[in-house]
Amino acid sequence: MYHPACWIFFSATTALLFIPGVPVRSGDATFPKAMDNVTVRQGESATLRCTIDDRVTRVAWLNRSTILYAGNDKWSIDPRVIILVNTPTQYSIMIQNVDVYDEGPYTCSVQTDNHPKTSRVHLIVQVPPQIMNISSDITVNEGSSVTLLCLAIGRPEPTVTWRHLSVKEGQGFVSEDEYLEISDIKRDQSGEYECSALNDVAAPDVRKVKITVNYPPYISKARNTGVSVGQKGILSCEASAVPAAEFQWFKEDTRLATGLDGVRIENKGRISTLTFFNVSEKDYGNYTCVATNKLGNTNASITLYEISPSSAVAGPGAVIDGVNSASRALACLWLSGTLFAHFFIKF
Ligand SMILES: *[C@@H]1O[C@H](CO)[C@@H](O)[C@H](O)[C@H]1NC(C)=O
Ligand SMILES: *[C@@H]1O[C@H](CO)[C@@H](O)[C@H](O)[C@H]1NC(C)=O
Ligand SMILES: *[C@@H]1O[C@H](CO)[C@@H](O)[C@H](O)[C@H]1NC(C)=O
Ligand SMILES: *[C@@H]1O[C@H](CO)[C@@H](O)[C@H](O)[C@H]1NC(C)=O
Ligand SMILES: *[C@@H]1O[C@H](CO)[C@@H](O)[C@H](O)[C@H]1NC(C)=O
Ligand SMILES: *[C@@H]1O[C@H](CO)[C@@H](O)[C@H](O)[C@H]1NC(C)=O
Repeated sequence: MYHPACWIFFSATTALLFIPGVPVRSGDATFPKAMDNVTVRQGESATLRCTIDDRVTRVAWLNRSTILYAGNDKWSIDPRVIILVNTPTQYSIMIQNVDVYDEGPYTCSVQTDNHPKTSRVHLIVQVPPQIMNISSDITVNEGSSVTLLCLAIGRPEPTVTWRHLSVKEGQGFVSEDEYLEISDIKRDQSGEYECSALNDVAAPDVRKVKITVNYPPYISKARNTGVSVGQKGILSCEASAVPAAEFQWFKEDTRLATGLDGVRIENKGRISTLTFFNVSEKDYGNYTCVATNKLGNTNASITLYEISPSSAVAGPGAVIDGVNSASRALACLWLSGTLFAHFFIKF
């Protein structure tokens, strides 16, 4: 056994002198004056510095109760531990490539005039926030429950928050936790959610997860249209749905298709249009627009009605979802109103 170990061990375990200092980020510590905690980031080097004087006869640095260096003799088998300075005024070692398990108390142990003295410094290892595991993008049906997870590491322990990005600034925070739980999810809760892991070591780590909420079609726009014989007529039907709706057009029980009876059906995103290239008397009447996706279907009745060649375009709004509208009658009323106005203005 190495002889000086006895006094080192003695002095370390009977730590007489412990002067707490102020934490600094410089990576330095001094002895026997002010002792500061040493804060470094993971991967950086930490310098443990002990200021001594010429009365000192023996010196050592310890990691907890394990001797790292005694004088110039290296006791640690860890290649990251090296001696920097061993002079009558200073005794310093360096730990390279610091990792989290290096965190803890380190002791500078000296002997002066047969008086052992120790001073302790805490090595504090910081780790930038990093998201380790986060839920994948997810598609759910409206009304179901969703749990998103965001696991982050870092030192100090990062604060994890979830924010709904599709929502106005300041109102988007939905969770101050690693878990984001949404029960009975609604269509307006779809969109991107951002997980942010924050500590004061470095910039927050941020990742996004997309929630897609499926819902059955809902016809938001379907207008009755007035066209005169020989003109081009367009009926249009707008449906919101996720996944996007597929459209079908019917007249009574007959399904319409592009190319048949001089019509064309065009679907562009949420809107389907039924175009009559040359409207004739037989085209007037009720049409049904059916919007379907895997969650269901809905329909709206739309009327193509006759107007006199001089009059303009759209009539009153259609009634949605199979409820019958008295559109023909309304169209007549509207038409006669228009004619009356013409008459009135003329005379
Ligand atoms: C040094 O770190 C230790 C452990 O984290 C803590 O208890 C002590 O208060 C710190 N000292 C100073 C001066 O910050
Ligand atoms: C300090 O001690 C801890 C606990 O035994 C160990 O995991 C770590 O590697 C040591 N660090 C150094 C630099 O000796
Ligand atoms: C992420 O978390 C999930 C749920 O806890 C788990 O099943 C999965 O194995 C984790 N993945 C990784 C890479 O840690
Ligand atoms: C529209 O149809 C009528 C009758 O079928 C026909 O006389 C007329 O030429 C057509 N107009 C156009 C522009 O095709
Ligand atoms: C339209 O919707 C009504 C009520 O939901 C339904 O009874 C009817 O069969 C539907 N019509 C078509 C053509 O799908
Ligand atoms: C068209 O639909 C309306 C209301 O939906 C109804 O009152 C009218 O009788 C229908 N007309 C025809 C020709 O089917």
